[in-house]
Amino acid sequence: MTQDELKKAVGWAALEYVQPGTIVGVGTGSTAAHFIDALGTIKHQIDGAVSSSDASTAKLKALGIAVYDLNEVDSLGIYVDGADEINGNMQMIKGGGAALTREKIIASVAKTFVCIADASKQVAILGRFPLPVEVIPMARSSVARELVKLGGRPEYRQNVVTDNGNVILDVHGLEIIDPVALEDAINALAGVVTVGLFARRGADIALIGGADGVKTIKK
Ligand code: A5P
Repeated sequence: MTQDELKKAVGWAALEYVQPGTIVGVGTGSTAAHFIDALGTIKHQIDGAVSSSDASTAKLKALGIAVYDLNEVDSLGIYVDGADEINGNMQMIKGGGAALTREKIIASVAKTFVCIADASKQVAILGRFPLPVEVIPMARSSVARELVKLGGRPEYRQNVVTDNGNVILDVHGLEIIDPVALEDAINALAGVVTVGLFARRGADIALIGGADGVKTIKK
């Protein structure tokens, strides 16, 4: 199977966790796009979605799924999203698609985070994938200097402005032995909006697509 076929398999497998009559949290990226396609087939059974990016919102609306502002929603049962890396403790690096801030907000509200990923995303230690950090534009250089002190090599993601009007630094060269400590340290830097390390709020369920099919891992 190709990587895209594995992404499609987990995207559709996530339908099992969607409860009829609820609003569904929807992530961003190529794997989440397959989930949105799947969600379109049961659109009359759900009440709608909250979305983590303008791109996912457009796709949801094109399929006829109502998209709500998170402020209109009291609670959220599930959030389904991909990951750039996931470790054995269900902690993740996310933000390859620059949607990390809205993803983290929705993940923080959802009762259950369902991570959908092909097996290439599984790692023993997070950090080979450059860690995205969303930064207020005027703090780009000052935050970059602090990230160097934390042991990384930040690179400005050229020509990318997030849905929130900010910029992204991708931090290379990290071997993240203590994800919670690094998440806290980066969150503490003035000018950082969001770090794409989902350590304190990791996934509750991971659907991993590999040659043998979709494997379900529960926290
Ligand atoms: C989007 O900002 C990311 O967090 C995605 O969830 C992550 O990059 C995974 O993307 P793919 O599903 O496209 O691999």
